[in-house]
Amino acid sequence: MNNFDFHNPTHIVFGKDRIADIATLVPAEARVLILVGGSSAEKTGTLAEVRQALGARQHDTFNGIEPNPGFDTAMKAVQKVREGGFDFLLAVGGGSVIDATKFIAAAALFEGDAWNILLQGGKNITQALPFGSVLTLPATGSEMNKGSVITRHDIDAKLPFQSAYVYPQFSVLDPTKTYTLPKKQLANGVVDAFVHTVEQYLTYPVNAPVHDRFAESLLQTLVEIGPRLLTATEPNYDDRATLMWSATLALNGLIGAGVPQDWATHMIGHELTAQHNIDHARTLAIVLPALLNERRVQKHDKLLQYGERVWGIRTGTDDERITAAIEKTRDFFESLGIPTRLSAYGLGAEAIDVVVRQLKEHGMTQLSEHGDLTPEISRRILEAAL
Ligand code: NZQ
Ligand code: ZN
Repeated sequence: MNNFDFHNPTHIVFGKDRIADIATLVPAEARVLILVGGSSAEKTGTLAEVRQALGARQHDTFNGIEPNPGFDTAMKAVQKVREGGFDFLLAVGGGSVIDATKFIAAAALFEGDAWNILLQGGKNITQALPFGSVLTLPATGSEMNKGSVITRHDIDAKLPFQSAYVYPQFSVLDPTKTYTLPKKQLANGVVDAFVHTVEQYLTYPVNAPVHDRFAESLLQTLVEIGPRLLTATEPNYDDRATLMWSATLALNGLIGAGVPQDWATHMIGHELTAQHNIDHARTLAIVLPALLNERRVQKHDKLLQYGERVWGIRTGTDDERITAAIEKTRDFFESLGIPTRLSAYGLGAEAIDVVVRQLKEHGMTQLSEHGDLTPEISRRILEAAL
């Protein structure tokens, strides 16, 4: 385990009926811009609850943040923030709304072309407006981290940035707000949280047993509740709460602090979304099994540990156990209704060249925990995922 700092300033407010707490979480004199996606926050009544909690504070709403939030949409919100003199943002939605809000918070105070924030991965951010979030879709962990991903459709670029200035001040996690989610989004949430955990765990051993067991408990929990979430005829509060907390802990910095990480699955997945508009979690389900197989030598020891502790695989040669662990992973995603092959999304070998070219264009040429995953290896992974 390497030296690390772990500082996470986001205040989590968890449980049923906690949106009312916004009344005390947002400064009394704040001029608040609420940011929402399409229509879900309005339809489900969550937006009305948020407005009620804001009470007499001056507030307005920006709606229309799309899934895989777009740069142009976010810049319209930046204009509204500047023109309206808003000094506090409140994201109400899933990862896309929270990510967009992080970008808007930084871009509103940024001088020059805000696309440079993405080109420099957030290193050039020196300030941001304060903001909070009300999470309606457990998946990304954006509610308790400093990362965000923004898309520019004109150049098919989906790029991440990070900055300590864009941690939410608070996030309200009310599991009942997930009750209106379509099954597809629940499945996406389970897979996204699962893959976040895997990418901070399934690298090589560094004598970090606490990290390992935290990660394994998140994976085991997701394996346990995933099928139940999808088959339940009525939403079950405890399972929704468990999903919500698992997804938050999977990417709030805790399990990744001081250990090697491999974000190759996400970086390849982002290109698939940018090119083909496939849901974020679905791209991960396509890439991860093929990537684990390609990297079975580099990840040998951790693959055996993962197979044994998460899937109970204890017999066979090392190679057989690793193959079984990868197949269990694929079967789990498929069992949630998420296909793991490019062909299931109507894509064939002809799609691969562009993805590899875009990886190079975006500097994604030295991926993985070893920095040795080249575009040619990404190509092999995609070919194996056909
Ligand atoms: O737009 P509305 O009408 O609100 O509908 C949304 C959207 O269509 C709907 N939805 C959300 N809450 C709902 C609901 N529908 C009914 N009831 C509710 N309670 O769900 C759809 C998808 O929402 P979205 O926010 O796009 O999904 P998700 O939370 O999966 O976010 C995906 C985005 O997060 C990024 C992804 O790349 C993608 O752009 N990520 C952000 C990360 C981070 N900041 O740390 C890490 C992740 O790896 C990921 O890359
Ligand atoms: Zn993700």
